[in-house]
Amino acid sequence: MPVIAVDGPAASGKGTIARRLAAHYGFPWLDTGLLYRAVGVRVPDAEEEKAAAMALSFDVGWLTDPRLRSGEAGVLASKVSAIPAVRAALLEFQKRFAAQAPGAVLDGRDIGTVICPDAEAKLFVTADVEVRAHRRHKELQALGAVAIYEQVLQELIARDARDSQRAVAPLIPAKDAFVLDTSGLDADAAFVRALALVAPQIL
Ligand code: CDP
Repeated sequence: MPVIAVDGPAASGKGTIARRLAAHYGFPWLDTGLLYRAVGVRVPDAEEEKAAAMALSFDVGWLTDPRLRSGEAGVLASKVSAIPAVRAALLEFQKRFAAQAPGAVLDGRDIGTVICPDAEAKLFVTADVEVRAHRRHKELQALGAVAIYEQVLQELIARDARDSQRAVAPLIPAKDAFVLDTSGLDADAAFVRALALVAPQIL
C-alpha cells in the first residue's frame, strides 16, 4: 500500500499538507505528534519510567482530547518523545496505521527515517523559524490562548534544538526526501508544490 511520509519541524505546515494530501488520495491520515502529546499530558513531569508505562497503555481514544492542541502539550510531547522506550512503545501502532488499505499519510518527525523508511513518497517540510513562530502565534490566538510572539519564538527555537539533537530518531530529512520550504507559500501554494512532488511517486 502506498505510504506518504511528511516530516518537519513545528509549524512548518506539514500537518496542513499531510491532511490535504490524505483528502486528495482518499487515504487515512495520522498526525503522529498527537501520540506524543497524548502521553505528554498524562505524565507532566516527563519521568522516564512513568512515560514509558503510559505509552505502553496507549489508547487510540486519547487522540481526540482537546487538551492536546495546547502549547503546553507540545512542550510535554517534545520531552517525552526523547525517551527511547516511549518511541519504541508507539512504533507498532504507527506501522500498523501505515500498512492499511488503500494507503496512508503520516506526518511527524521520523516517519521517513524510522517508521516508514520504505514510504513511496517522502516530504520534509520546513520554513524559517520566524515564519513558523508567526504561524504558531496566530494558531494559539485563534484557539483563544494568550500568546506572546517572542515567547512562542523562543519555545520553537528550544523545541527545534531538542528535536534535532536527541539521540533517538532526531529531526533530520531522510536521504530520499524532497525538501519543501514553505516560508513564502500560503497553504494552497504549499499543497500544489507538495502534490507535484508526491504525484509521480504514487501511481
Ligand atoms: O507541530 P508541532 O511540532 O507543534 O506539534 P507536533 O507535530 O504535535 O509535535 C510535538 C512534539 O512531538 C515534537 O516537538 C516532537 O518532539 C514530538 N514528535 C516526535 O518526536 N515524533 C513524531 N513523529 C511527532 C512528534
